[in-house]
Amino acid sequence: MFRVFSLYPLIAIIKPMKNRENKLALGGAFENQIEYCNEVISLNRGKYPKFYIRTLGCQMNEADSEQLMGMLIEMGYQPWDKIEEADFIIFNTCCVRENAEQKLYGHIGELKALKSKNKDLITALCGCMMQQEHVVEKIKNSYHYIDIVFGTHNRYRLPELLHKRLTSNKRVFEIWEDNKGIAENIPVARQDKISAFVPITYGCDNFCSYCIVPYVRGREVSREAKSIRKDIEELAKEGVKEITLLGQNVNSYNSTMNFPQLLHYLSDISGIERIRFMTSHPKDLSVELIEAIRDIPSLCKHIHLPLQSGSSSVLKMMNRKYTKESYLSLISLLKEEIPHISISTDIIVGFPGETEEDFLETLDTYEKVGFDFAYTFIYSKRTGTPAAIKKDQVPDDIKSERFNRLIELVNRLTEQSNKADENKVLKVLVEGKSKTDPNYYTGRSESNKIVNFKADKDFTGTIVDVKIIKAHSWHIEGEIL
Ligand code: 5AD
Ligand code: SF4
Repeated sequence: MFRVFSLYPLIAIIKPMKNRENKLALGGAFENQIEYCNEVISLNRGKYPKFYIRTLGCQMNEADSEQLMGMLIEMGYQPWDKIEEADFIIFNTCCVRENAEQKLYGHIGELKALKSKNKDLITALCGCMMQQEHVVEKIKNSYHYIDIVFGTHNRYRLPELLHKRLTSNKRVFEIWEDNKGIAENIPVARQDKISAFVPITYGCDNFCSYCIVPYVRGREVSREAKSIRKDIEELAKEGVKEITLLGQNVNSYNSTMNFPQLLHYLSDISGIERIRFMTSHPKDLSVELIEAIRDIPSLCKHIHLPLQSGSSSVLKMMNRKYTKESYLSLISLLKEEIPHISISTDIIVGFPGETEEDFLETLDTYEKVGFDFAYTFIYSKRTGTPAAIKKDQVPDDIKSERFNRLIELVNRLTEQSNKADENKVLKVLVEGKSKTDPNYYTGRSESNKIVNFKADKDFTGTIVDVKIIKAHSWHIEGEIL
């Protein structure tokens, strides 16, 4: 059942379904899907249909798509990078902000034309956006050329859903309201040979008042530490050097151990040279975690710690459960314990009720922390969240004006942070040749900065010393030592 297709060079590692007999966290789970995989193979009668997956949104969606690819390969499908030649197309959707949703309707339009050219084409939509009832209704009623719709909790049932579609010729809609547990042992087609995402929790219990994630990804569940370790050991055997532990709030990981204990438990896997994690919630960043980052050599000295707003009153309205002052104290502690730690963040401008003074507090906090990098967002109203029904929405022109001022500060401090690296020697995990300049290789520093450097030998997959010679806005440039 295990094949590797050479047609798609990006997919380098295919994790076969090993230990299928092992206990599954979710009753029945993927075990029951194996017979559907076999049936789909026989329905396709010796053909290897082509599939194309487009992933929108965050790293969690990327990790989910790697599982979808793994299952499709298990069913005899082959990855294909030209959408117009594919026999099966999946869009894995995101709804964290409105523009992601709007974009999807554009993408769906593409499918109509493709479907009219190829009557055998099967189309599917999945992911966060499909967990919203009003979206599913719209797809049901207005987009008849979509064949399969499923959500985030039941994606491991793709073989069954595809089988249903192939045998009944009817459209298939299946959405579950919440997690019923975690399906383990799903095959994964890894996109990257060197660096891999490993989900450790699914869902979120925090209910920040602007955020749709808890509604579409359900309650937080943590994977068993042993299953996580087993996955990483397999990845290490396949040559992966860096793993990023993923969760909406990894700090609240809770199984037989807490998150800092998990980090210690995973820290001695031979071959794994770097461990990263994201995302952290400031309210759950414990002293024990700070000590783990300080003490575990393979843990990158970098933390992504979303601030969202620098105003304590906005933070209260956001239901973030920390204040400007407590956030700044955490930063002081982090810097005290780990002097060269790099810190990045997420900021939202224009949350309902945000005043000019509140916004100035955000700029002030940003400057005080001296963040190395930030993802910046304009507040986007999400139906079903408490913030969406607040009366004091900030007008669009004020939101954009604040956003531009924030970007200016972010860019200035990022450039300052890059400049501070000039003449330093940084450890860089080499990812391969630069896509923009064939004379250069590219990799990432421990602080997660992109480092481009000239080298006459290929060091892909190893950590090398690079002396930084020039800072740019979005990367730093150096020479290998
Ligand atoms: N509007 C704008 N940004 C949002 N985020 C989450 N929800 C919204 C929203 N409704 C941002 C937060 C989060 C990041 C992943 O997306 O900053 O940390
Ligand atoms: Fe959304 Fe808050 Fe959960 Fe992050 S922690 S996913 S912002 S609810």
